[in-house]
This record gives sequence, C-alpha cells and structure tokens, in this order.
Amino acid sequence: MTNIQRLNNIYKSGIDKTWSNTEIPDKLIEYLDYLKSKVTSYSKLKVLDIGCGRGRLIKRMIEDGWEDVTGIEVAGEAIKYLPPRIKLKIIVGDFMEERFNKKYDIITDLTMTCSVSPRHWSSIFRKINEILEGNGYYLGEFFTERMSGSKLDKTWYLKENDLRNALSGWFEIIFFKKDKKIKGSIFFLTKKKEI
Ligand SMILES: C[S@@+](CC[C@H](N)C(=O)[O-])C[C@H]1O[C@@H](n2cnc3c(N)ncnc32)[C@H](O)[C@@H]1O
Repeated sequence: MTNIQRLNNIYKSGIDKTWSNTEIPDKLIEYLDYLKSKVTSYSKLKVLDIGCGRGRLIKRMIEDGWEDVTGIEVAGEAIKYLPPRIKLKIIVGDFMEERFNKKYDIITDLTMTCSVSPRHWSSIFRKINEILEGNGYYLGEFFTERMSGSKLDKTWYLKENDLRNALSGWFEIIFFKKDKKIKGSIFFLTKKKEI
C-alpha cells in the first residue's frame, strides 16, 4: 500500500474523526489573533494550510474574516464531500512536490509535519521557509511523545527539545507552548529566518 492509499483509507474509514471533528485548539486561535493584532488589515494576508485534511481550519478562518486562505492536502478522499466553497480553496497534492506560484504571509500546519518521519522535517521546513514572504510566520501543532494511543499509526512522537532545535534552524521561535486542555501537543508560532 502506498502512503497516499494509507492516508485515503484513514479518511474513507472515518478514523480521521478523532481530529477532523474537533474544535480548532484555543492556542492556535490565540496565535492567529496575535498575528491579526500586528497588522492593520489581516483579512488580505495570504495563508496556506498544509495537510489541511477536511479543511476545518480553513472553515474557521473564513468565519473569522480571513479572505485569502488556501489548503493543500495529499489525500483526495478528505475533501470529497466538502461544500464547493471550501473545496475550491484546496489543492489536492503533495506539499513537497507542489510548485507554488506565490509566496505566503502565514503557513499553518496542524499536525501534518508530525505525521511524517523526522528525517524529512528539515526538507519540509526548508520548503516552508522558501515559500514564506520575508516577514512571514509559520505556526501549528505537533504531537509529542506524551501523546499515546493515537490511531494515526505513522505519527512520530518526539521530545520537545528536538522539535525546538529542528524548528530553530529555519525559524525564530516566538511562542512554543503546551496547552493544559490538549495534553501531548505542542503549539508554536515562529517567524521566518533569512537563511
Ligand atoms: C493528522 S492529519 C491533520 C489534518 C488537518 N490539518 C486537521 O487538523 O484537521 C495530517 C494530514 O496531513 C496530510 N499530509 C501528510 N503528508 C502530506 C503532504 N506531503 N502533503 C499534503 N498533505 C499531507 C494527511 O493526509 C493528513 O490529512
């Protein structure tokens, strides 16, 4: 079975409900609000949500007034039944293979990168760094070793310090926090480093 078939099967079987049907974590909303407060008009900022799944963050951001939000998701099955207004915003493809024709002000990553082996992280972070605008931000959620019993069998649980070190090669860390309500996840907000 290829990796894409495996991911499609997760969506077909409904295993994804463990994350797709949950609210966007408060910490991420807090970070997005922080970014809103830094500009006069946030609604026009270009946002890319990598590994967007069923588009739950895209939906939430549209409700919150963000206008230019795009998602990319490798599992076509995830977006099959979405309403057209959300579907239209999602590219079905592999983030690492995609040639983006523009740069983004904000890249969000709700547990996409942590579902990929850490040996690929530095190429993922390099690509995120490359397609961010000069003063762009990268924020998201990673599962850590504390989270066990996940049904996502390919999730890699790593130590907080390893994640901090991996991120800090490419980004300046602004916030790096746990949330009492979601034990086992790390939430981060970083800013592009010029490499
Ligand atoms: C744990 S799920 C999270 C989905 C979504 N971000 C959410 O929070 O609802 C990780 C997602 O990343 C997607 N993914 C993994 N590798 C990818 C890649 N290289 N390009 C695009 N999507 C990818 C998977 O198909 C899966 O939908």
